[in-house]
Amino acid sequence: MNQSKPSRFKKDSNNEFQEFVQKLHLQAIETAEERIPLYLKVGVKDANMILDAGCGSGIVTRDIANLTPGTVTGIDASKDMIDVAKHVLIDYKNVNLKVGSADKLPFKDNCFDITICNLLLMWAQQPQKVVNEMARVTKKNGMVLASLEPDYGGKLHYPENQKVDPIFAGQAIIDKGGDPHIGRKLRFLFVKAGLKTEIGIGNNRIWSCEEDKAYYQHARDFYIRALQNAGLNQKDIDDWEYHYLKSLDMGIQLNFFPQFYAIGKKIR
Ligand SMILES: C[S@@+](CC[C@H](N)C(=O)[O-])C[C@H]1O[C@@H](n2cnc3c(N)ncnc32)[C@H](O)[C@@H]1O
Repeated sequence: MNQSKPSRFKKDSNNEFQEFVQKLHLQAIETAEERIPLYLKVGVKDANMILDAGCGSGIVTRDIANLTPGTVTGIDASKDMIDVAKHVLIDYKNVNLKVGSADKLPFKDNCFDITICNLLLMWAQQPQKVVNEMARVTKKNGMVLASLEPDYGGKLHYPENQKVDPIFAGQAIIDKGGDPHIGRKLRFLFVKAGLKTEIGIGNNRIWSCEEDKAYYQHARDFYIRALQNAGLNQKDIDDWEYHYLKSLDMGIQLNFFPQFYAIGKKIR
């Protein structure tokens, strides 16, 4: 990864790395109902060789490894993330982990049956290169899957908050070096990589207020930090949090933002 961008994927930013890993683990649980059907749809149960690009802490790699009799290779640009993944996957004999860039995958052409990434393209600085590389290392007739790629332009919620909403509508992602509109770009990226492409939205269910509240409570530090980093003063943060939690307790808050997926078949 380019060193000039802020990175939560490295340990040097104190608690932020730990918080981020914790958020990934929570997110993996909360999104299992979206991701697992996609893994099954691309055929992980019958695959021999699977790549998980941008595997991060390995929590999603573990889901894939549990579903396949084959071998899963996880690769991530961050050595710190791979160190966490080694710990998470210590008991998994069918997983290999490697530090490396998905912009230039250190694998030969046509060697994986399935190549997967989850929430990578939003953070990749050159997403087209990543998708091209995923396609290159996938065997002919093999599948490339990108899951959980959000588009904050489609974020819907009510009641609203004039000060906080623009921050969570994408600015916090831009400030951290991500692309909040990656979801709408998936078709372009996959078709340009020469893949026969299907695009969909993984989250077809809107979370209940109880689920939103449980998620917020687990990820609270992450959200408060994002608001602080965006320059919001403590009074506005407290005010927003009070009303947000109240609306959840009253059962009136609705939150939705689309998580896109792309499935590409390598046809030549
Ligand atoms: C949001 S995390 C997702 C991790 C994991 N896929 C998951 O869903 O839990 C994004 C990961 O992509 C990695 N990453 C970003 N750009 C990368 C690149 N060009 N090559 C490899 N890894 C990259 C980061 O280091 C980080 O671990």
